[in-house]
Amino acid sequence: METIKNVLHKLHPGGEGQEAALKEPSPSALQELKEKYTKAGQDQVFAFYDALEAPEKATLYEQLSSFDPEHINRIADRALNPPKPKDDGKQAGLEPLPESATASILDSKPEDVEKWYQTGLDLIAENKVGVVLMAGGQGTRLGSSAPKGCFNIGLPSEKSLFQIQAERIRKVQQLASKKAGHGEGKQVVVPWYVMTSGPTRGPTEKYFQENNYFGLEKENVFIFEQGVLPCISNEGKILLESKGKVAVAPDGNGGIYQALVTSNVMQDMRKRGIQHIHAYCVDNCLVKVADPVFIGFSASKDVDIATKVVRKRNATESVGLILLKNGRPDVVEYSEIDKETAEAKDAKQPDVLKFRAANIVNHYYSFRFLESIPDWAHKLPHHVARKKIPYVNTSTGETIKPEKPNGIKLEQFVFDVFPMLELSKFACMEVKREDEFSPLKNAKGTGEDDPDTSKRDIMQQGKRWAQAAGATIVSEGESDGVEVSPLISYGGEGLENLKGKTITAPAVLEKQWD
Ligand code: UTP
Repeated sequence: METIKNVLHKLHPGGEGQEAALKEPSPSALQELKEKYTKAGQDQVFAFYDALEAPEKATLYEQLSSFDPEHINRIADRALNPPKPKDDGKQAGLEPLPESATASILDSKPEDVEKWYQTGLDLIAENKVGVVLMAGGQGTRLGSSAPKGCFNIGLPSEKSLFQIQAERIRKVQQLASKKAGHGEGKQVVVPWYVMTSGPTRGPTEKYFQENNYFGLEKENVFIFEQGVLPCISNEGKILLESKGKVAVAPDGNGGIYQALVTSNVMQDMRKRGIQHIHAYCVDNCLVKVADPVFIGFSASKDVDIATKVVRKRNATESVGLILLKNGRPDVVEYSEIDKETAEAKDAKQPDVLKFRAANIVNHYYSFRFLESIPDWAHKLPHHVARKKIPYVNTSTGETIKPEKPNGIKLEQFVFDVFPMLELSKFACMEVKREDEFSPLKNAKGTGEDDPDTSKRDIMQQGKRWAQAAGATIVSEGESDGVEVSPLISYGGEGLENLKGKTITAPAVLEKQWD
């Protein structure tokens, strides 16, 4: 596996393998590779090889060498024909997580939340906390050609998602440093590991460089790349995107585990002494990056993985649920549970759902757990995403842009690792949706999880913070929201000087980095 990814790494745009890729293979090396693909029933990938120019031959050879066709056949077969669930489709093995493994910001004692916050800040001040961002998705629904993190959601400040997240890191570093009483010379650093993919790496790196890493130190921002897998036709054949190139796609957000190892992120964390890791998705504009409360909660429980969840809105909301399946922590998709289970009420609180822990892909990992990735990453299953994949017809040489899904992309899911844990090593924290979760999935105008809802949710949160601090908001425009720069406040703190002030909305409370 590792060897495969290492070869892939050489093929990345701008990567060090560009010159090597220009060497045509020897006839014997080519023969050997052809035999491998023929044996796997995938020799159609060589259909146009003989007619290619030398550099194209070399590039295709390199690309094909980076995959093991038998392995691709195996994972595609398993994804298309997954093993039958033990419970035979019944919901028998499903239970909510027990109280011992959960906490809720909604009804925890304020002193508990404060204790977790202080513990988390201390760990940050000791430079033991790192952050991993999953930003390798192609954002097809949003329809922007740039990586999602570069997207301007229309805030008065015009900040992108990447900038908002970078500023939250700067602020939390500052809060931790202040609490620890660090003077000049001792720096608090929360390293930011940004996972990209083939399509998003180049533009992400350029964007960070052009914006001076948003005031973070360049050496503390580690941009790395997840792997890719070939796209497969509905008949199980590897597709060619052009005569000299296999169609590939990122291997899903579960590709994070292999990528942490093969891209030397683990090595960097080890060197820095990172013990606690917060991982999250690029598209959540409200994400509390390196959230001290979550870090403190997870570290005090001494778990290997913790997740944040929000309360499921109603029985029909289409969200994945975090629960216990046959005694193990797991995620069950909304399509996998029956109506009765979805509608069941909590025995202790009859007005809330029994299964209400909606997954927001916001995780805590202990470093010791991530160190065991090589032991289990190969066991994670692949899932099928049916897509319209442009391809070259290997009989006619014609390029086809299909109108309906003609093939599959193989993806791993980041949460498939949960069932590998004992319940005692897993915890879940319920947080307020309006404070922590507003994903950007769809194009403007959709009305749901789109740029306007992202903007609205940030500005409404700012308004709540300003009001809680004692400000009066008067509105003149179409919006009564207030954008509070993360450089001023991470989570509503530090706004005391707003007391008694009147703010005319829409407004932005901003402080520029130098
Ligand atoms: P989604 O599954 O919502 O995909 O990703 P997406 O790419 O953002 O959008 P669509 O489905 O193409 O419209 C959830 C999170 O997982 C990351 C995304 O960047 C996002 O943060 N992700 C997804 C990866 O890092 N790698 C992948 O291969 C897929």
